[in-house]
Amino acid sequence: MSLSSCAPLVFFRSLVDNPGKVGALAPSSPKLSELMAATVEPNDIPVLEIGAGTGSITRALLRRGLRPERLFVIERDPTLAAFLEQKFPGVQVRCAEAVNATRILSAESVGRVQTVISSLPLRNLSPIERMRNVRAMVGTLSKEGQLIQFTYGSGCPIPSRKLGLKAELLGRVWLNFPPAAVWRFTRASQAHP
Ligand SMILES: C[S@@+](CC[C@H](N)C(=O)[O-])C[C@H]1O[C@@H](n2cnc3c(N)ncnc32)[C@H](O)[C@@H]1O
Repeated sequence: MSLSSCAPLVFFRSLVDNPGKVGALAPSSPKLSELMAATVEPNDIPVLEIGAGTGSITRALLRRGLRPERLFVIERDPTLAAFLEQKFPGVQVRCAEAVNATRILSAESVGRVQTVISSLPLRNLSPIERMRNVRAMVGTLSKEGQLIQFTYGSGCPIPSRKLGLKAELLGRVWLNFPPAAVWRFTRASQAHP
């Protein structure tokens, strides 16, 4: 098996090169990936995945019935982006920074997306960088869109009130290394009491 075809090896190489920016010790588990993907309705509305890494969640999204050409992926690590492109033909993979998400989608004539699925290691970012990245992700959402984010932390990973967002804990996944929690964020103005 070549290095470029084995997800754990590709992940490990990126982790060694850039530990803080990869932000995980292992790819997302099938359980975590399924919980993230379960938030998406497989219809024609485009979905944006940020920080797809080795594509565990990408695979779960496609298994859920999402058409590859309606899935846009932004991954900053060139090795991982090339791996994703090779592994998921038809998926729109861009090697880029999350903060440029709106510009990248506009270049593809995609307006807003219904769902952003994020594996960004938010806890590794400074508060300013965290806000910048979250604002960029929320900026790509349609009015009633949702941002799905997992975290290894015990609390909410995003200062939701400050950003006018409603936060909802969807579940905890113990079968992941380390265990993770999945959160959904929607615009507070869209929330019903
Ligand atoms: C927690 S890991 C990915 C986990 C992924 N679900 C998997 O199973 O491999 C986070 C990923 O986000 C990427 N990343 C980190 N910061 C980023 C940024 N600012 N823009 C885009 N991708 C980023 C890293 O390169 C890494 O692949």
